[in-house]
Amino acid sequence: MSIMGTRVIRTEDPRLLTSGGVYVDDLRTPELNAAARLTFVRSPVAHARITGIDTSEALGEPGVIAVLTVRDMDDLVPPPPSSGEWDGSPAPLGGPWAEPLLAVDTVRFVGEPVAVVITDGRYQGEDAADLVSVDYEPLPVVLGPTAAVADETLLFPAAGTNVCVSQAVSADDAPFDACDVVVEQDIVNQRVACLPMEGRATAAAYENGKLTVWASSQNAQVSRFILAGALGMAPDQIRVVVPDVGGGFGAKIGIDRDTITIAWAARKTGRALRWAETRSENLVAMSQGRAQLQHIKIGGNRDGRILAIGHDVFSGNLPSEQTYEGAALQTRTLYAGANRLTRHRLAALDVPVASSMRAPGESVGLMALECAMDELAERLNLDPVELRVRNEPSEDPEKHIPYSSRHLVACMQEGARRFGWNKRNAKPGQLRDGRLLVGMGMAAATRGNPLRLSKANVRLDPDGNATVKMAMTDIGTGTYTILAQIAAEMLGLPIEKVRVELGDTSFPEAAGSGGSWGAGSSGSALFDACNALRERLAHAAGMDPATARFANGSIVSGEQSRKLAELVGTGMDADGEIKPGSNNKDFSQQSYGAHFAEVGVDTDTGEVRVRRMLGVFTAGRVLNAKTARSQAIGGMVFGVGAALHEELTLDPRFGYFVNHDLAEYHVPVHADIPAIDAIFLAELDDRSNPLKSKGIGELGICGAGASIANAIYNACGIRIRDYPITLDKLLSKLPARA
Ligand code: MOS
Repeated sequence: MSIMGTRVIRTEDPRLLTSGGVYVDDLRTPELNAAARLTFVRSPVAHARITGIDTSEALGEPGVIAVLTVRDMDDLVPPPPSSGEWDGSPAPLGGPWAEPLLAVDTVRFVGEPVAVVITDGRYQGEDAADLVSVDYEPLPVVLGPTAAVADETLLFPAAGTNVCVSQAVSADDAPFDACDVVVEQDIVNQRVACLPMEGRATAAAYENGKLTVWASSQNAQVSRFILAGALGMAPDQIRVVVPDVGGGFGAKIGIDRDTITIAWAARKTGRALRWAETRSENLVAMSQGRAQLQHIKIGGNRDGRILAIGHDVFSGNLPSEQTYEGAALQTRTLYAGANRLTRHRLAALDVPVASSMRAPGESVGLMALECAMDELAERLNLDPVELRVRNEPSEDPEKHIPYSSRHLVACMQEGARRFGWNKRNAKPGQLRDGRLLVGMGMAAATRGNPLRLSKANVRLDPDGNATVKMAMTDIGTGTYTILAQIAAEMLGLPIEKVRVELGDTSFPEAAGSGGSWGAGSSGSALFDACNALRERLAHAAGMDPATARFANGSIVSGEQSRKLAELVGTGMDADGEIKPGSNNKDFSQQSYGAHFAEVGVDTDTGEVRVRRMLGVFTAGRVLNAKTARSQAIGGMVFGVGAALHEELTLDPRFGYFVNHDLAEYHVPVHADIPAIDAIFLAELDDRSNPLKSKGIGELGICGAGASIANAIYNACGIRIRDYPITLDKLLSKLPARA
């Protein structure tokens, strides 16, 4: 191969870097020429009964076209009532959420949409929204996941997929009694924001029974189906278009009620509408990452073999939401051990909906499991890498099926070698650098490798250019580029001759970007389409498709060579498809890696500075060495944020997030990120997909935060199990300055 796998710069970069990006709110398509602005009226209270809404004053304002509430939704089928019962089946991805689009008679969180104001201009909308008068009668509020621990009646039934038991283990079960060492911890993390650079933005136009929605979305296809269900329309009456997207991080994986509301309002009013959320709405009303409370218990014998693991996860969501974050999922598969019990429980909370957020599951779960492993290693007087090597399973310990490919040990050993892990002092608090105590930590990385149905079309025109079409999205990850690389490689064309068109449901359906399935799923569909086109081209050239080679715009067989452009007539195309088969059930599929971090803890201020980080990963075939590394580094930066910075701070009296701007919601900035590197070890996984690749999009964050927490402990001997590890939590426990 000469193009796939290489460090091709993202094809859209020159355009994006010269301000040529076209995001939803920049669109100037004719349908949106006369678009009006939509503004949400949002609840200022967390849980209340609505006793009255008066829209008359707002309607009297200049520029106000309409003020709509749930009373105007007579054209919608009401959502099924929430029973509070969960049958154990996973909820549809990212929605549709069971709440009505606009509040009916109660509100359940601060920021819940109660009404929409439609105006000619954006600022008129903000003014008019203030004039919609809503009367609220307060109801009791439940804000945090501790409710799930304290009150059994708040638990969703612990049934179905959220409980996994290998052999019965509970807090006081026999397998732990047989252990020489037992580590038992509670780990807390706070609510966090997805915080894509581009917030949600939507435009919608309804004409002649057809709805077009332009959305900043991770998944055009899912958006279309959810819109169809919510609005009672046939999917083929709806077209979803996704232009440039400034990140999603999980919040745009489905389509949210705000976006559906805009489409509904466009149909209702007959006006094309635009909406782009403010940063405050982005932080407060967009789906968020959950606050969780994790109880973890690991027991082992003196030679470092794990005998029993228990991992209980308590979190919460809106009463109508039954999706949990699988924070214990990796505990089912990462390490050997005969006995394990993993459970997820949800409390009903009065806070915004929690959904996917940057590697949901492992990113939070590993911040518990990998710190517990660090503690177990210390108790056993074993190096943390060695403890993990001793618990390397020969098969998936819960499902008893083989791994498709697994090179965790190689990642740890290569990382340890490159990072200088042997210089780490096993005893904490030994290394000083001026005011700083310096330490190293490590953690394993793992993330599931899903595959989703995807289709693709590839066409070759007589001018020698190829065009790829699929309803895939590129949310900033490099999808346009890797798809161009695949087509160029397969058809023997220079990459400049391949045009990739994505983000439109009028193209073949695709899996979208999320859950680390995007590249493998869309790339495999395109690979199939390219194979089909190669076969057609070979037949047209009178060559054997099995032996023909494609290079320099030609098809070559033995001494014979034909220009592709001359074979295609007026153009030749082919469809391709990938469908998940049984490999996901017959093989345990994950990407793996190992994080190494060095931190300095300031003994005067308690401030933690990351000094260096290294991630070593295996994720099957790397499709583009540059975008893969960038994805991994981006994930590691998320890990720094998760460990040290990110927290939506709830006012416990009102259920209101006080830090709803970028000044007060802290994410890592350049000064927080020192020397970070990520490398991928060679691996091919022939069970994952035809490209032999595995997911990398979210692998980098998984375990990264734990490696920092472990480094903090190694630096100063203080274990903080309450993320983010801010200086106030360290300060009183730090030794006096030497
Ligand atoms: Mo991702 S947080 O599964 O879009």
